[in-house]
Amino acid sequence: MTDRKIYDLRQNYDLSNLDESDVAADPIVLFEEWFSLAVKNGVPEPNAMVLATSDDSGKVSQRTVLLKDFSEGFFEFYTNYNSKKAQDISVQPQVSLLFLWLTLQRQVRIEGNAEKVSRQKSETYFMSRPRQSCLAAWASQQSTVLNHKKLLTDQYNYYKEKFKDQLVPCPDFWGGYVVKPQKIEFWQGGNDRLHDRLLFTKENNQWHLKRLYP
Ligand SMILES: Cc1cc2nc3c(=O)[nH]c(=O)nc-3n(C[C@H](O)[C@H](O)[C@H](O)COP(=O)(O)O)c2cc1C
Repeated sequence: MTDRKIYDLRQNYDLSNLDESDVAADPIVLFEEWFSLAVKNGVPEPNAMVLATSDDSGKVSQRTVLLKDFSEGFFEFYTNYNSKKAQDISVQPQVSLLFLWLTLQRQVRIEGNAEKVSRQKSETYFMSRPRQSCLAAWASQQSTVLNHKKLLTDQYNYYKEKFKDQLVPCPDFWGGYVVKPQKIEFWQGGNDRLHDRLLFTKENNQWHLKRLYP
């Protein structure tokens, strides 16, 4: 940075408040409200979420994935079942998700266990994707080393030819996961750094709400 130091970058958060008496008892309902507002307000890629996983030695890694559904109260995303994230989930299903909607001064954090969705569900979703995305799923050995970009485009063209004049089937190494939430925390930036944090925790199938210090 030249004319402005990083430690001078500062913004007051003053858009809204989060009050226990105003929020739904079910955090999925509150998530729906926040998500709809993010869409309505033109937040870029409002369904982009950071997924954190850990391997069997506890080493953590993160990456962005796209939320595709939460209508049943589970947070669904799709990926390659041989990827690094999928390998992590196979040994340690506890994951966390994070949505950052900066223009609304909001963050949502979710913790829970990830499980594969049914094959039928993966296939149904796969068939709804644009053809190019389906071919790209076949072409990418996600998370492994690619020595030249051309190898990827060659693979893409190979599958384009192979599946010419037919529907691209869902690869068996590709599909969805749902994260079944145990904790959902809603963060709303507040004046003077007095932010609001409401944490919902699921115990005995019931959601309990607590406020946390910011
Ligand atoms: C905005 C955005 C959306 C993405 N959506 C997905 C997705 O839905 N599924 C996916 O597998 N990767 C998605 N990616 C790529 C991942 O972040 C990541 O690079 C890839 O899944 C490999 O991760 P892994 O090696 O840790 O398994 C997305 C990346 C960005 C920046």
